[in-house]
Formats: sequence, structure tokens, C-alpha cells
Amino acid sequence: MAGSKVVLAYSGGLDTSVAIPWLKEKKAAEVISLTVDVGQPVDLEQIRQKALASGAAKAYVLDARQEFAEEFIAPALRANALYEGVYPLSTALARPLIARHLVRVAHREGAQSVAHGCTGKGNDQVRFDLSTTGLAPDLQVLAPAREWGMTREDEIAYAEAHGIPVPATRASPYSTDENLWGRSVECGILEDPSVEPPEEAYEWTTAPDAAPAEPEYVKLEFEAGLPVGLNGQPRSLLDVILELNRTAGAHGVGRIDHLESRVVGIKSREVYECPAALVLIAAHQALEALVLPRDVLDFKRSVEQRYGQLIYDGLWFSPLRTALDAFILATQERVSGEVAVKLFKGSARVTGRRSPNALYQNDLATYSAGDRYRHQMAEGFIYVWGLPARTWAAVGARTAPRLAPSAKYRP
Ligand code: ARG
Repeated sequence: MAGSKVVLAYSGGLDTSVAIPWLKEKKAAEVISLTVDVGQPVDLEQIRQKALASGAAKAYVLDARQEFAEEFIAPALRANALYEGVYPLSTALARPLIARHLVRVAHREGAQSVAHGCTGKGNDQVRFDLSTTGLAPDLQVLAPAREWGMTREDEIAYAEAHGIPVPATRASPYSTDENLWGRSVECGILEDPSVEPPEEAYEWTTAPDAAPAEPEYVKLEFEAGLPVGLNGQPRSLLDVILELNRTAGAHGVGRIDHLESRVVGIKSREVYECPAALVLIAAHQALEALVLPRDVLDFKRSVEQRYGQLIYDGLWFSPLRTALDAFILATQERVSGEVAVKLFKGSARVTGRRSPNALYQNDLATYSAGDRYRHQMAEGFIYVWGLPARTWAAVGARTAPRLAPSAKYRP
């Protein structure tokens, strides 16, 4: 493999820093690093310097926050995507974006492989590998941490031996991942799923008990299934997300404690903070309930479940996602209007919704004056609708043994 090039997804942390000399040594490869800002707290220039100091031949950095919001989060929001009904898929959604940039840089640099820092136990390796394969079947994917079998102590020793700056601060007991759509926390005491997560595990959210005593209302304006305004001001999706992570997080909204089923068969305990994601999905669902017919809502729920699962499973770049997206998009044209959400002590509740496309019609729904519903027509409807049940019961009464003696009624 002499003369070969590899493009490494580089976070600037210990694992991916150690991966640079390891790839050079073990794979005889020239390492080109790529760091993508998807909303994690990051100083791109500092990371670029660290990659070069760790031995990268070239170091690319990219702010992809807007692309992440518009091309990955937006479809997930239109799909109300929640894995196992609770996790908005923050980490899972960022992986295909990063993989797409790895592929682009690999093509530009004439590299034969890409690499990532994932271990062999998690979902992220599946997502990086499958996203890469789905875009560029000829590229090889290397995962040093899946091969090297080093403990954290081994890694530190390896880093020191190779002149790589090791963070002086004592490592946090938690393993975290952050982007615009949420923050995930694993390891340490969280590995005991019977124990309540300690307050220190959370960074984006105020403890609901300590949240402001007064509720705060946010008004979201949607067009075709996506937010376009907040509290009366036009806003990009990216800005709405950044703003809601702050405001909803301050009210303790967004905490998730998930006993999760990983792709690789392991059950794990995952803690998340996803304030904006939970508020936006709740608001979007509320608006859909107002403007979409019952059968579309019902069918869409099964599509949403499948959509969330395929994101989790690393199948973003797949024909199934393309096909489901076409269905979802076709449902969103009328999903426009306003939703009010009340943030208070850890909860985000929809308190009002309004749309020019509302199927809610007051003169049909009202029990007061102005009712235009034709009550008598219900009788004929129920006769036809109930015919199968009536026939079934009539046949049963003729053929089945007499009903068991019923309760003793007193006159
Ligand atoms: N369990 C979550 C998922 O699979 C979060 C993974 C976090 N990844 C990480 N490398 N810390 O999407």
C-alpha cells in the first residue's frame, strides 16, 4: 500500500489523533484529515493545527451546519423520525453527512480509502461504512479502533511515543457526541440502567426542578412541513434549531433516558439532550394532525417508524430512503401554519395551532349554534359500516352454544 492516501474523519480527540500515526505506520498511508462542524463546540482552526501536529499531510475543515440542517435534519423532521419512539437520531443523522464529505475529499485527493475512529461495538461504524459504500462502492473503509485493540492507557502511551499532544485535563467519565440535533452521553455510572443519571451528565438542559418558575411560550411558523419563523420573525431552520436548543434547554426540555437496541445486537443505556428536536417534532406533529386526513396520518406513522429505523441502521444512502422520502414529501405540501408551544419545567406542550389548510371546520365540530353537520345521516352510515359485525353476530347466535349465564341483575 505504499504511496496510498487515506482520508480520516478527524474530531481532534484522542482516538482520531492516535489514528494518524497508526495509519501511517500500519497502513503505510499518507493521512489527510477532515473535520466537519455539524454543531459540536469546535474551533476548526485549532483542530486543523492539531491534525497537522499529529502528522497529517493535509488537514481539511468544513462548517457544514447549514447543510446538516437542510439536507439531513429537515427530512428527519418532516418524518417525525424518532428511533424506538424516543431518540431523534442526532448522532445517526450526522454520520452520512460526514461520510459524504469523506468521499468527496477522497475523490479530490485520489485517495483509495477513508477512515473513522469508531470502535467495533457501536452503531456509528455501521453508518460510516454503509454510507461510504452507498456512495462510493470502490472506496475501502478503515477503522483503526476496530483493529488496534488498545485501551485508553495504551492510546495515551502510543500518543506520547509519537509526539501527539495529549489533553492535560482528566478525561470525563462520559463519552459524548454533540451536534445541532442533540447531545448523547454514555459510559460511567450511566452504564447501570437502574441508576438515575446524575445532574453532571447534562450540559444543554437545566434540571426541570431548577427551571424558571414562569412558563415561556414559543410560536413556530411552518411552511410545507418545515419551520420558517420563530415568535413572528422569519428564521432559517438552522437558526430556529440553535435558538430552541437554548430556550427549551433552559426550561429543562429535551432530556431522554433510553434503553436502546443497537444494530450490533447490544442493549445500551443512552442519555440524550435534544431540546430543539423534541419541540420541533411535537409542533410538526400537531400541525399535521390539523391539516392531514386520518388515513394519511395513520399510514405516515408506519412510514415514519421505518424511516427512523433506516437512519439508525446506517441506510441513509439507500433506495428505500429515497422512496420513503418521496411519500413523505407528498404529504407535506399543506403542512403550513402556526403552532404555540409552552415550555415549563421540563415539558414542551402544544397549546395552540392554526393553519389556512386546517381540516378542522368549526361548523362541523361545534356543539353550539351554527352546527352544519347532518346528524340523521349518521344512522345510515352506521347501518352500512356495522353490517359485517351484525352479520357475524347473527350467524354466531344461531350456531354457537347458548351464551354463558350472565350476571344476576336485581330488579
Ligand atoms: N447511541 C446513539 C446512536 O447510536 C449515540 C451514539 C453516540 N456516538 C458516539 N460515538 N459517542 O446514535
